[in-house]
Amino acid sequence: MLAKKTSAGHGLGSMLIVTMLALPAQAGPPERIELPRIENAFRLGPRLYSGGEPRGEEAFAALKALGVRTVISVDGATPDVEMARKFGIRYAHLPIGYDGVPREQAIRIVKAARTLPGPVFVHCHHGKHRGPAAAAACGLANEGWTHEQAASWLEQAGTDPGYRGLLAAAREFNPPSPEELDRAGSDFPERAKVPALVDMMVRIDGRWDHLKDARKAGFRASGDHLDADPPHEALQLVEHFRESRRLDEARSRGDDFARKLESAEAEAESLRKALRNLADHPDPTAARAAEDAFAVMSRGCTDCHSRHRDR
Ligand code: HEC
Repeated sequence: MLAKKTSAGHGLGSMLIVTMLALPAQAGPPERIELPRIENAFRLGPRLYSGGEPRGEEAFAALKALGVRTVISVDGATPDVEMARKFGIRYAHLPIGYDGVPREQAIRIVKAARTLPGPVFVHCHHGKHRGPAAAAACGLANEGWTHEQAASWLEQAGTDPGYRGLLAAAREFNPPSPEELDRAGSDFPERAKVPALVDMMVRIDGRWDHLKDARKAGFRASGDHLDADPPHEALQLVEHFRESRRLDEARSRGDDFARKLESAEAEAESLRKALRNLADHPDPTAARAAEDAFAVMSRGCTDCHSRHRDR
């Protein structure tokens, strides 16, 4: 009898242990993880990850290995929907700007993260600013985070405090009411239509990324893009800025914006010439001139953004 009682007791004990093991792992603080071809990847909880854009097969294979079933992009670039599908992963494209996260869009993101199959990986281009801000909203609304947790997460992610709207999205976002969630609908497109200027900026950024890579290699054509030599990349920048100037969206932004786009085009052209010269006459003077032109172009991007984009 006694032995039986004891074993019944043990039975209950091990049942408890089994039940506890079966519960999902509790969310500790966000934890950095290394994933191939994904920058700044973090695990925020059993159902939530954050990081940069997954680039190619290896990246999506790594997400699949983590168990990720939905990827939410919050930047303007067109998601690689086909590659994701190959790994049984669904994309939801819900872009936001740098000036903050409009409440309606934040609620759509939160709802997508809550209702689409998890775990969910939330990303922007480099996984530093917009992605972490959107992930913070998901943490607040879906994972029981406090505003302090959200703020310290953005710090850990390296979000630039200059993006005050993004910080506010984490510090001030209050989880949506059931009615708000209801109103958000359930249209989570795999590819969203973005404004023409955003689309142009995404292209500009692609060229700029290639040039940044090339710069690390002393402005020789970089490994990943051997077909794209630096002067040619700069020429593409020139053309994209020229096209941007013709967009109605750009024109409606006023004189200062028009002037800044015009200067950006001129800066891209100076960079192109400097890189052409460096390719033809690789010497220290030409290398310095290329560095200088690169720095001027870089300031051209940030000056316009701080005035017209990030607010
Ligand atoms: C004349 C102003 C101006 C210049 C110069 C400029 N940008 Fe932009 N950029 C903007 C504006 C405005 C937006 C936001 C557009 C919106 O959200 O509607 C933007 C958005 C972006 C975005 C975000 C796209 C997305 O995913 O939503 C990136 C990335 C970007 N710019 C990169 C660059 C780079 C790199 C350069 C320089 C090589 C540059 N920009 C130069 C005005 C400028």
